[in-house]
Amino acid sequence: MAVDTALSEIRNVVGDRNVIVGDDTSGHVVDWTGRYVGSTPAVVRPGSTNDVAEIIRICRRHGIAVVPQGGNTGMVGGSVPLNGEIVLSLQRLNSVGEVDELALQITAEAGVTIEQLQNEVAAAGLRYGVDFGGRGSATVGGTIATNAGGLNVLRHGMTRAQLVGIEVVLGTGDVIEMMSGLVKNNTGYSIPDMMCGSEGTLGVITRARLRLTPQQPFCHTALLAFADVESAVTATAHLRRALPGLEAAELMLSQGVQLVCNEFDLSAPLGDEYPVFLLIESVSGHDHLDSFAQHISELEGVITAAIAADDRQRKLLWRLRDDHTTAINRVGVPRKFDVTLPHDRLAEFVTAVERHISSAAPTATTWIFGHVGDGNLHVNVTGFDGDDSFDQSIYELVISMDGSISAEHGIGTSKAAFLPLQRSAAELNLMRGLKAVCDPDGILNPAAIFA
Ligand code: FAD
Ligand code: MLT
Ligand code: ZN
Repeated sequence: MAVDTALSEIRNVVGDRNVIVGDDTSGHVVDWTGRYVGSTPAVVRPGSTNDVAEIIRICRRHGIAVVPQGGNTGMVGGSVPLNGEIVLSLQRLNSVGEVDELALQITAEAGVTIEQLQNEVAAAGLRYGVDFGGRGSATVGGTIATNAGGLNVLRHGMTRAQLVGIEVVLGTGDVIEMMSGLVKNNTGYSIPDMMCGSEGTLGVITRARLRLTPQQPFCHTALLAFADVESAVTATAHLRRALPGLEAAELMLSQGVQLVCNEFDLSAPLGDEYPVFLLIESVSGHDHLDSFAQHISELEGVITAAIAADDRQRKLLWRLRDDHTTAINRVGVPRKFDVTLPHDRLAEFVTAVERHISSAAPTATTWIFGHVGDGNLHVNVTGFDGDDSFDQSIYELVISMDGSISAEHGIGTSKAAFLPLQRSAAELNLMRGLKAVCDPDGILNPAAIFA
């Protein structure tokens, strides 16, 4: 069979021990939420860009489809082999270069985790602008492939804003290397920008050149309680003007905070009874605790607030937010809706989506949290199997309110059928044209993005 011949050629490239088959592939065929389960003839683990290029050429020759995989923390079923594809795991490409102190940049291989990268650059007094709860497993390559957002988009932008160079292997097996790190380089179309958010459908990212920023010595974190979402949204807008170093403004509802506290035996500093919470964090080169506290006290709608007095308290506040995803997964396999709304419609959307879900799925529980400073809400539904028509009804609600059906997780396989709700025929044609040039035989993640 073609796949057996391809695998034997791939063994010659990476060695037997880097072609995993049978039960040992189990961690690579199910996604993090447990919703998307596939199977694969093998997980292949290249150790260099050349290995990746050789593997892609072999797969192309034999017409074998490949799913690139980093940390397998993706939320939209794009990282698992749902149609029996070979899994191309980038985890062995895990080295980080020296910090470039002049340019404030670093080169990292695709399989480096976000946590590993943050630790490396912290030692040089620097930080990388993308961070989120999946940092321990999510990789540089995976976050570029999904254009991940996370907790600090307010100040640093999404992954695309950090990317100043890329090395990528196209579906043709050609290697594109644009790693000079030149911030200004208007020489035709921007290939790094194009690869960012392509979800493994245009090329396999092997290395990236990333922008760093100085670590700010002072960081203040607070939890604020509100009676409703609208007050929290308005307060966020005020804080964005008042605190230039505002890095995070994260929304949580009482039900989610209660769940996290119960699951992880934590106690919320303000109690968990208030309807709406906002977790904020602001950094600066000087100690701005007084003005931080002052701005909070001047906000309208704050019922009560707690400012973290030390790093231990800061970490506790962040656990209330970071652990939402894990806690919800413990309740059951969630249906996840990662959406953005215009800021002035966020509160209305929360009410509308809760009402919609309780009428369409009376047995379901709805969990809402997210990056409210970016207009990004995560709506999770447990206790209800649902189907495509349920998902479509949520996306239609989002679009009717001028929002986007994917804020930061991407389209993957789970939203591929719904992409035409959002993107025009001309836009989809352009995307398909790009795909045809970069991956003429359609071997790269064929089930993702396009239905
Ligand atoms: P994978 O899950 O392995 O892959 C994701 C997609 O990228 C797939 O389509 C895959 O084919 C492709 N891909 C992976 N590596 C490559 C490569 N080298 N070249 C080409 N394509 C590749 N996401 C956010 O945006 N914001 C958050 O706040 C956030 N929080 C999270 C919190 C938790 C607890 C968890 C579990 C996940 C969270 N995520 C978040 C989702 C997820 O971590 C991101 O989508 C992340 O970017 C995926 O990285 P990964 O390395 O795990 O990629
Ligand atoms: C988050 O912000 O925690 C994530 O994007 C993960 C999720 O949606 O569960
Ligand atoms: Zn998120």
